[in-house]
Amino acid sequence: MAPTLKWLEQNDASLIGDLAKLVAVQSISTDGEHQKEIDQSAAVTCDLMRNAGLNNVQVLKTGQSNPYSYGEWLGAPGKPTIFLYAHHDVQPINYVADWKSEPWTLTERDGRLYGRGAADDKGAIVTQLGAISAYLKTKGTLPVNVKMLVEGEEEVGSSNLQGFFVENKERLMSDVIVVCDTGNVEVGMPCVTYSLRGIVALHIEVQSATKPVHSGTAGGMMADAVIALNVILSRLFWNHKKLPVPGLYDKVRKLTGPEKRAFRKLLATDEKLRSDNGILDGVELAIETKSNAHEATWRKPSITVIAQEASSIKGASNQVLPTAQAIVSCRIVPDQEPEEVYEQIKAVLVKDPPWGVKVNVKPAGAVKWWMTDPTGPAFSAAMKALKKGFGAKPVAIGCGGSIGFVGPLAELFGGVPALLLGIEDPLSNAHAPNESLHAGDFRKLTASLTHLFDQIGNLPDGKVK
Ligand code: BES
Ligand code: MN
Repeated sequence: MAPTLKWLEQNDASLIGDLAKLVAVQSISTDGEHQKEIDQSAAVTCDLMRNAGLNNVQVLKTGQSNPYSYGEWLGAPGKPTIFLYAHHDVQPINYVADWKSEPWTLTERDGRLYGRGAADDKGAIVTQLGAISAYLKTKGTLPVNVKMLVEGEEEVGSSNLQGFFVENKERLMSDVIVVCDTGNVEVGMPCVTYSLRGIVALHIEVQSATKPVHSGTAGGMMADAVIALNVILSRLFWNHKKLPVPGLYDKVRKLTGPEKRAFRKLLATDEKLRSDNGILDGVELAIETKSNAHEATWRKPSITVIAQEASSIKGASNQVLPTAQAIVSCRIVPDQEPEEVYEQIKAVLVKDPPWGVKVNVKPAGAVKWWMTDPTGPAFSAAMKALKKGFGAKPVAIGCGGSIGFVGPLAELFGGVPALLLGIEDPLSNAHAPNESLHAGDFRKLTASLTHLFDQIGNLPDGKVK
């Protein structure tokens, strides 16, 4: 192993330079206005794949999808094949003024690398390619086969990904999946994620009249659509109890005793949770009284209003507004059924409309949850690799976010194990201003991936599950 690790140390600046090249491309997928940049980030990713020594490097597409960057190295016949996943698309810059350095210029401050996409998820591309390069540049060979896919539409729900996988099943077929798009509980603490939440989103529109009317004329007489909508949304206030949605918890899988104990051990203090999340003094943590932060965000459903629209503050005028809309997004957990959750929340929203306003609810997208048993040869290999790479004991954790393809892809490949390795940490600010990657963890994850190739390539009898 020594030469590969040494190569990583000697090429550290060049790897960080690769990350800077990727961060410089404004590959925002959420607004449909950066198609050129998304093509460009796919092209830059392909260049980096070629430089690392991957073969058959190309941009792939399906239908109207954004470009996928693909590359492979299949020079280890008889050895397991690892499917590596990351994404090259990013979130927009919504609060421009809050950025302390230019979002598209990778900037190092106090051991962190700042820039949009540095942590979510361009850093992952570079860790994976770093580990591949370390082998190919020093030994000319890898102990495993790799197939690497970097997606361009993860941040908008990966709607073409499953179709793409089915279409390219033979080409992509692998023995183990490695995804670097989740977090570590703490800087320096390597984590393997074994559960993801899903999402059920609903669009609600409230209508009271066919037109806005001067509030001097109609105020006090005409039903206010915005107030009606907010009366309805206020039904979702959980006030430290369970979410007030009948039936919502019926299928929620209980945590086992060992899980409860393991999660509790990883809990941060309330003070740290508040500071990591920027929660204001005097504002309570909204956790259900009998729960804790990890149970609540990893394995319990949650509801958030992610958008609300009626009229803008700028140019506001004295009118009673006739329509108002919102998107209600529910994170779902094992073993909730998305369709059932949709109906349960819809029932709460459409019940007894204030003033009899018209309420129209329709689906706004759904993603399945995923959960696996973090044992077996592939997981042991990952634990050993992370221990070597981080020099710290790895832990198995849950994740409150969603990565919809993991379950379906593992199934498509015939029930193969999926290893979700952390690249973010509590200060990464993914999707938010001042997104950053911890430079030390970036190096440790890259080293861990070289160890992982080694561990998986040398499993007793070659069995990954
Ligand atoms: N990297 C995140 C997933 C994640 C979220 C990991 C929180 C760790 C903590 C991923 O890029 C993401 O944001 N996924 C979306 C999926 C959605 C667009 C279907 C999410 O969770 O909202
Ligand atoms: Mn991501």
